[in-house]
Amino acid sequence: MIGKKHQFGIKYNMKEEKFFKHLEVMSPVTTGEADYENHWSVIKSICDITQPKNILELGFNRGASALMWLNASDAQVHSTDYKEEDKVKLSIDEINKHHKGRFEYTCLNHSTFPEVIDDYKDKYDLVFIDGDHTYEAIRRDAYNVIQMNPTYIVFDDCFHVAHGIDSRNVIQEFGLEIVKEYVNHTGQILTKNTSSHQVISTL
Ligand SMILES: C[S@@+](CC[C@H](N)C(=O)[O-])C[C@H]1O[C@@H](n2cnc3c(N)ncnc32)[C@H](O)[C@@H]1O
Repeated sequence: MIGKKHQFGIKYNMKEEKFFKHLEVMSPVTTGEADYENHWSVIKSICDITQPKNILELGFNRGASALMWLNASDAQVHSTDYKEEDKVKLSIDEINKHHKGRFEYTCLNHSTFPEVIDDYKDKYDLVFIDGDHTYEAIRRDAYNVIQMNPTYIVFDDCFHVAHGIDSRNVIQEFGLEIVKEYVNHTGQILTKNTSSHQVISTL
């Protein structure tokens, strides 16, 4: 698997080639579909395009994508999820062991972002929205993220047969500029935050 050419022309060669070894000792997966090879090639491509310095990730789960963001860039990575820290301790410990000083985890319900929004404003150049995948939650998360004023916003599951349309509708509704679409069954869309966060409609 390592070194082979993969989708989107990205060579599957995760830095240090240790991703799956790390994953083995991390907290178990509790939700979502895992297609780590595709996911890695997408995250690598996004990092090459955007050169992020500070990434915020909504939806940590077991930390697979957090690990990928850390491997694919030199950025600081901050993940939020409503899972309490002790539930994801194995993952946090494993990530900190290999990416010392670059990772932060916050236990937070994304519906409470409006209460803490000032702590998240003007801090991140790239935000990955991968929390609750219902239309209402994607729209809520996108709205809150736009208030944070990042340069780029990445949406997950944009081509999923069951609910891919929801992310795409939100992107269109908030007038985000599509930079790149990664069309696969869990595919992501990289957007540029061209939405005027002061004038967009309220929730
Ligand atoms: C699809 S998983 C994230 C996968 C992860 N980004 C990855 O690729 O490895 C979605 C995560 O969002 C979290 N989540 C769902 N709704 C949430 C909410 N309202 N607030 C915070 N986290 C939420 C779930 O606990 C779950 O871990």
